[in-house]
Amino acid sequence: MADDFKITNPNVHAYLERVHPEPDPVLTEMGQLAESRNFPYLGIQCSRILHVLVQTSNAKRIFELGSGFGYTMYWMAKAMTDGGVVIGTENTESNVNEAKEFFERGGIADRCDMRFGDALTILEQESGTFDLMFCDIEKDEYVRALELAKPRLRDGGLFVADNLLRGGKVVDPEINDQATECIREFTQMIYNDPDWFSIIIPMRDGLSVSVKMPSRS
Ligand SMILES: C[S@@+](CC[C@H](N)C(=O)[O-])C[C@H]1O[C@@H](n2cnc3c(N)ncnc32)[C@H](O)[C@@H]1O
Repeated sequence: MADDFKITNPNVHAYLERVHPEPDPVLTEMGQLAESRNFPYLGIQCSRILHVLVQTSNAKRIFELGSGFGYTMYWMAKAMTDGGVVIGTENTESNVNEAKEFFERGGIADRCDMRFGDALTILEQESGTFDLMFCDIEKDEYVRALELAKPRLRDGGLFVADNLLRGGKVVDPEINDQATECIREFTQMIYNDPDWFSIIIPMRDGLSVSVKMPSRS
């Protein structure tokens, strides 16, 4: 991967980064914190996609794999205007504590169920189905995440995942590290399994959106 690899033309990216309205002040602060720490958060453009997906699908039960200090959870919780819950998972305890403080300050703590631990283990133990899942954990865990998610997502539910392009690594046949190979396998699964209908949006680092197709009898 070349260091200067950019999926979106830099001028277009810069324009899209400044043309949108500011989110609420807590989200603005979280975004600035992520930038100052060089924390790998989803960013505002893709988070707005998440918001649209939550709102248009009227999702009420959401599961997030890899929540950091709560930026994307916050966006999804804000998009739920009529009740519901976002279960978040994060394996760094300081991030969990920080997220909870942001949710309190934003007045959305009642819809944010932030859990400390391994996302896949927590998902395995979870009962009930979800309307939407967002996957943002280590990239070599994506195949397992999709396998666990499928029976826990309702028919017509959405599985959204970040980093499908891995900074361009997926297009380079010379790059075969475990994480890139896992993302390639995940991509084949969401496109070739008839139980999913998927798109990859080439925004930022590539965001996939997969609809779980209703079971055919
Ligand atoms: C790329 S960051 C994104 C966080 C958040 N989605 C956002 O955009 O702000 C991924 C986070 O997932 C956490 N993580 C990675 N693998 C995990 C796992 N298996 N279980 C729980 N958390 C995990 C990391 O500690 C990190 O905070």
